[in-house]
Amino acid sequence: MKTEFLGIPLKNRTVLASGILGNSKDILERVYHSGCALVTMKSIGPAPRDGHKNPTVLDLGHGMINAVGLPSPGYDRMEGEWDELARRNFPLCASIYGGSVAEYARVAEFVSQKKPDVIEINISCPNSEKHGMIFGVHTDSAFEVVSAVKQVINVPLIAKLTPQAPDIASIACACEDAGADAICAINTVGPGMVIDIESRQPVLAFKKGGLSGPMIKPVAVRCVYDIFKAVRIPIIGLGGITTGEDAIEMIMAGASLTGIGSAVRYRGIDVFDKVTREMNDWLESHNCSIEDIKGAAHQET
Ligand SMILES: Cc1cc2nc3c(=O)[nH]c(=O)nc-3n(C[C@H](O)[C@H](O)[C@H](O)COP(=O)(O)O)c2cc1C
Repeated sequence: MKTEFLGIPLKNRTVLASGILGNSKDILERVYHSGCALVTMKSIGPAPRDGHKNPTVLDLGHGMINAVGLPSPGYDRMEGEWDELARRNFPLCASIYGGSVAEYARVAEFVSQKKPDVIEINISCPNSEKHGMIFGVHTDSAFEVVSAVKQVINVPLIAKLTPQAPDIASIACACEDAGADAICAINTVGPGMVIDIESRQPVLAFKKGGLSGPMIKPVAVRCVYDIFKAVRIPIIGLGGITTGEDAIEMIMAGASLTGIGSAVRYRGIDVFDKVTREMNDWLESHNCSIEDIKGAAHQET
């Protein structure tokens, strides 16, 4: 199951999704030792931000709804974490966000100097320059922000896309044209809302939130399928993957790697090891390799 992704040797096909287990070296290292091949940090922003009030996350059984609100200490207030992470022995992906093109570039340039193995830009958050729109739903703003970040970093760049884009494949093409080395799809679906019928109020303090976990898998698979048809760069398929069979399905849609977020809650931190074993079992029982099945859903029968 060993592979190489953007020149980085990986022990298997699993990736920790951003925002699930924070940014401390100890916990990220534990994730690596629990079977995860590429470990993504929580998104780092341009300024200190508290995030939303509690409750921020609700488990719906078939998935989760969250409005964490991108809490971040601010990119230049993490010296302790960066010092620790400099001594890591595992592949690290740093995730960043901004409120404008200039902010994205500033955070990216700083973070790149901390030498993560790869940087992921989360282009699914509000763009203050354009009155609350999201960079990832328009091809021109996606192109602009990816080009700006690409110019100031010296590690490979992943663009993380939102399923809120009306045509996610065209956004992926714009990111590829702007110099992205890979695509990660998808961020949470929504926004959605859950109302407590006794109190007659939305359950989340922020009222609305993004959906994740098993219930979004068909949306994620469709997005990866559409993106695979449109770009040549590799894709991290993410959204609802809980089992090895889910991961196999994502590979058949066209993913090279498979991201795991909410399933850490459902199956524990060693979900990466479990998913890898289950993928191997499936491949063995079907007498085939990852290469045989990658993008298989695109072949007409
Ligand atoms: C509690 C929570 C926090 C998240 N924080 C971030 C974040 O900081 N940056 C980001 O790009 N995605 C964030 N995400 C989205 C996940 O990385 C992932 O794209 C999404 O949950 C779908 O994957 P899953 O179904 O495996 O959870 C968050 C998701 C959850 C549930």
